Amino acid sequence: MTALRNDALAGRHAVVTGGARGIGLAIARRYLAAGASVALWDLNASVMANALQTLAPLGTATSAVVDVRDEEQIARAASQSQERFGGIDILINNAGVLGPTVPAWEHTPAQWRNVLDINLTGAWLCCRAVAPVMLAQRRGRIVNIASVAGKEGNGFNAAYSASKAGLIALTKSLGKELASSGVLVNCITPSAADTEVFAAVPAEHREQLRTALLSRVPMGRFVEVDEVAAMAAWLASDECSFSTGAVFDISGGRSMY
Ligand SMILES: NC(=O)c1ccc[n+]([C@@H]2O[C@H](COP(=O)([O-])OP(=O)(O)OC[C@H]3O[C@@H](n4cnc5c(N)ncnc54)[C@H](O)[C@@H]3O)[C@@H](O)[C@H]2O)c1
Repeated sequence: MTALRNDALAGRHAVVTGGARGIGLAIARRYLAAGASVALWDLNASVMANALQTLAPLGTATSAVVDVRDEEQIARAASQSQERFGGIDILINNAGVLGPTVPAWEHTPAQWRNVLDINLTGAWLCCRAVAPVMLAQRRGRIVNIASVAGKEGNGFNAAYSASKAGLIALTKSLGKELASSGVLVNCITPSAADTEVFAAVPAEHREQLRTALLSRVPMGRFVEVDEVAAMAAWLASDECSFSTGAVFDISGGRSMY
């Protein structure tokens, strides 16, 4: 991938869900560096406040406490972005949780629903709020952060894998529906990144899970959050002009389709 011009997103306003840390925060940093303004939508107010402090020197960053399971909070935050920035040009559906690391039949119904509600329905609710704004602008970019787990189905992460497979399918459906509108919809399927997403895994299983995930990556390392952010920057730019409903691999050779 050639280096993106550093003003590639100048004048654009981007919403990054789950932007308080990890991959979302790296995307926010990268977008600010490329000239965009950024709104973080995250559940975790205190972590988001810290993130905002680190982003402030890079450009215009705002935040809204949003639980992506709550359509009213999403609608309010979308209106705030529109009022302040005149529209929403880029939506990154990144908020996500890993959920239980147990056999599929040992997920409780509440655990199963929660993972699907955040990772899949949450992304759909954000698309539902933002797609009409982009349609009216006749321009927009939606980037969904899925996972190789959605292509391959990780053992002991059935809810997570199913949610990410659903997010890939949502990307394809919405991509087709918006194909001639100027709004492009794509997703990224990273392999494991060394972030706090694993903090929810009980300590005694955490190292085992990380080792198992790494053993499947031919390049033998975690993907860096900045590598995912670089791909998300290209997908949000005008240089990405003939891809929609597409699935972009970034898995160090793990997933070759
Ligand atoms: N880390 C990995 O190995 C990996 C690999 C592939 C895909 N992904 C995906 O990338 C995305 C980001 O993961 P990460 O590793 O940076 O995780 P992370 O746990 O570091 O960050 C996730 C962020 O989402 C927020 N969030 C969680 N639930 C939310 C909700 N209901 N509403 C709003 N915000 C919410 C959290 O507060 C947090 O800031 C996730 O969708 C994840 O599934 C991660």
